Amino acid sequence: MGDPVGQLEQGLAQVAQTYEAAFASAGDEHALREENAKIVGPQGTLTALMKLMRDVPAERRREFGKRANRLKHDVTQRFEQALKQLFAAARQAELSGPALDVTLPGRGARAGRLHAISRVRYELLDVFRALGFDVADGPEIDLHENCFDKLGFPPDHPATDMQDTFYVHTDQPIERQAQRPLLRTHTSTIQVRTMEQTQPPLAIVAPGAVYRRDDDATHSPMFFQIEGLLVDEGVSFADLKGVLTLFIQRTFGEDVPVRFRPSYFPFVEPGGEVDMGCTFCRPWAGGERSGCSPCKSSGWIEILGCGMVHPVVFEHVGYDPERYTGFAFGLGIDRIAMIKYGVPNIKLLYENDIRFLSSF
Ligand code: DAH
Repeated sequence: MGDPVGQLEQGLAQVAQTYEAAFASAGDEHALREENAKIVGPQGTLTALMKLMRDVPAERRREFGKRANRLKHDVTQRFEQALKQLFAAARQAELSGPALDVTLPGRGARAGRLHAISRVRYELLDVFRALGFDVADGPEIDLHENCFDKLGFPPDHPATDMQDTFYVHTDQPIERQAQRPLLRTHTSTIQVRTMEQTQPPLAIVAPGAVYRRDDDATHSPMFFQIEGLLVDEGVSFADLKGVLTLFIQRTFGEDVPVRFRPSYFPFVEPGGEVDMGCTFCRPWAGGERSGCSPCKSSGWIEILGCGMVHPVVFEHVGYDPERYTGFAFGLGIDRIAMIKYGVPNIKLLYENDIRFLSSF
């Protein structure tokens, strides 16, 4: 072990002689703080000297303690003073620098806009609202029975398969398949939920996200649908045709032809699909359909599924099928957005590339 008294004497003298110059040479706040830390920081020279204090003979400890503390006090005061001087100098430089040029053009805030899918959703809902439909809602996680069983799907229908549907894991054991939670595969769940809660007459449209194990240029695992349902006494297929024709022509143009084709969905009878004239090649207005890719040269684009509500659905929700009839339909908002804006790949709608999304 060396001579602590000698080391202290030397160390204190060295700090006392150098700290002012070190602070004065620091050009900015960061450098100044570093110089300060070199002396009084946890690894600083003065801090190290203070640790030597316990090796100093007791009779001299008081004297050295006082000297070291006084030096620390001086260093700290000088540091704070130097800091103030730096701030003052920076402020002075700012004030005497070039004046602020208020005539420079500003950086304008970019105006946002609704996503294409939201825009189309509002437009479509507006058409139905104008016809007297209410807007209904339902959860994205629903029960198997609301998605399938009560809508008349047989238990082994492929749509209910694990390959097609996202089931949601639960910690509780599930006794009946009907109670199994899943990401709804269509908004038809809202038909069931609405009818269980309200008595006819009713007319609703219900927008929302739906989920399927599908993924290609025209299918995304999550997409958006609008469900429609109208129930009353004496509702006929003519009402269905009238409402859907009006909807399509208000959305795509008064002159667009519409055709109804028979099709199958478990919850409607009869069921159909609706095509509209292809708005890209417009054959009804003299356009050439051969070579048109959106309609594959057919001149028609499929736009929605529909039908008269199946009596078995009414039974499941407690409506009297002898008294009430109704029609239902379901359409893909994404699909309509793609047709409306000529979007070739559904992924473009979900990648959130501003350059694409702000192009229409
Ligand atoms: N839920 C059907 C689907 O997702 C669409 C649909 C078809 C809804 C016919 C309906 C309907 O209400 O009547 O493919």
